[in-house]
Amino acid sequence: MTSIQQRGIERIWTVEHRQNSPIHIAGMVLDPNKMKESDPFLFLAEDWFKKGTFDFHPHRGIETVTYVIEGKLEHQDNKAGKGELEPGDVQWMTAGRGVIHIEDPAEEETVHSLQLWVNLPREHKMAEPRYQNLRAKDMPVRKEDGALIRIFSGSSGGIQSDTKNYVPVTMVEINVEPGAMVTQDLPGDYNGFMYILEGKGLFGKNQTEAEKGHVLLLEKAETGQASEISIKSVENLRVLLYAGRPLNEPIVARGPFVMNTEEEIRQAYRDYMAGKFAE
Ligand code: FE2
Repeated sequence: MTSIQQRGIERIWTVEHRQNSPIHIAGMVLDPNKMKESDPFLFLAEDWFKKGTFDFHPHRGIETVTYVIEGKLEHQDNKAGKGELEPGDVQWMTAGRGVIHIEDPAEEETVHSLQLWVNLPREHKMAEPRYQNLRAKDMPVRKEDGALIRIFSGSSGGIQSDTKNYVPVTMVEINVEPGAMVTQDLPGDYNGFMYILEGKGLFGKNQTEAEKGHVLLLEKAETGQASEISIKSVENLRVLLYAGRPLNEPIVARGPFVMNTEEEIRQAYRDYMAGKFAE
């Protein structure tokens, strides 16, 4: 008989924010110095920013997943991709072999957003760039007693999103009313974490208490087995949960490029300088 492993919480921390400029406050939800424990995720940044904070910049070898908490975010790239994200929407960008883009708040807007960097596996680092605009209103939703789970990637309770992944990732927004409880299923080999956007709750097999602003790293589970994490609400909860299958590959990260070797990083700079990202 196989049983479902109940995951607990490995570690909890809060995010330190700092003022980078008069129009930009930033903090690291997932520390880029601890990429190993969150593999395939490289980091997660939280930003409050106005138009003019970021300029056009390149990426290679990764995917960026941007979740808008507040404000209206405009996006533009060198391949004529253009779009606007509203609160609760997600853009899943595969930089692959190369993208040059800008993410800018609309005029007079302050955007509050979360941007996750997902590492790409060796065989897909040079994939064709693509965008998936994942509108909150279009995503599949799982409803349980007192709970609503919006599925941006992967699945929840047998409901599957059709978001395309190079590395399997579950990304769900979990909303739970006080007193209600819900569980999120995850393959045993996934690494995962949660970030609490609103409310207070009890998490995992030890009913670990946590609230708005806390980041919770999930305990690992056995590879090849099913696992789940329980989420119980004390005060109206809104939580983002991200989990994915680790790549276990060497990581060489330099600025906006994340590859497997130093030589590949040098090649990325050469290609960028030679204008190959614009082709
Ligand atoms: Fe970017």
